[in-house]
Amino acid sequence: MVNNAGINGYGPFAEVDAGLLTRVLNVNVVALTALTRAAVPGMPARGRGAVINVASLPAFAGDLPPDPLPRRAVYAGSKGYAVTFTRTPAAELAGTPLRVQVVCPGLTATEFHLGAGDAPVSGERRVHDEGGMPAADVVTASLAGLEAGEVVCVPGLTDAEAVARLAEAELGLRAGSGSRTAPRSSHGE
Ligand SMILES: NC(=O)c1ccc[n+]([C@@H]2O[C@H](COP(=O)([O-])OP(=O)(O)OC[C@H]3O[C@@H](n4cnc5c(N)ncnc54)[C@H](OP(=O)(O)O)[C@@H]3O)[C@@H](O)[C@H]2O)c1
Repeated sequence: MVNNAGINGYGPFAEVDAGLLTRVLNVNVVALTALTRAAVPGMPARGRGAVINVASLPAFAGDLPPDPLPRRAVYAGSKGYAVTFTRTPAAELAGTPLRVQVVCPGLTATEFHLGAGDAPVSGERRVHDEGGMPAADVVTASLAGLEAGEVVCVPGLTDAEAVARLAEAELGLRAGSGSRTAPRSSHGE
């Protein structure tokens, strides 16, 4: 099962049509979740099966310099969901022959950036003209990652440890958060 369908709804957050943003969430989040839920339960009995959810690089640091990606708030959020969501069923199925992966391509040479889901996006043609990874290479990387048991696959990533370091940082955040307010948040102390 490959959950590849996606739309972007690009535009300044406060200006994008609210209905379009709901459609972005319906395609990128609701459908992806429902289809994964529909696919996974039948896989253990068959002893085989894989789900690949297509996220995107703006799932990570979409707001940060040197290349902040404004106009992608809901898109980046939906792809962040795809990453966070996919990791849990993948963990639940670890040690079985079943595979659940989220692939996070960077700019890919498709028609994606020319439309917001229902309308052209002005200014995005320049992005598209810069090219991007051929879609076939994204597929090759994803399938190689699937074979290798990569849960979070970033096709152009040369630093093989970067995903592991991200997970370590997340664990640090979770483990470092106690049940009392942190000193810097307390007034008068
Ligand atoms: N291109 C990039 O730079 C890039 C980078 C990272 C991630 N991605 C992700 O890659 C995935 C594929 O995008 P793409 O680059 O191939 O863009 P694309 O050429 O615009 O293709 C989008 C695909 O999604 C389908 N789709 C959209 N809305 C749908 C709906 N309501 N129901 C069913 N199918 C729907 C489209 O089907 P129809 O043609 O039938 O409408 C089309 O096959 C997306 O999830 C996107 O977020 C793209």
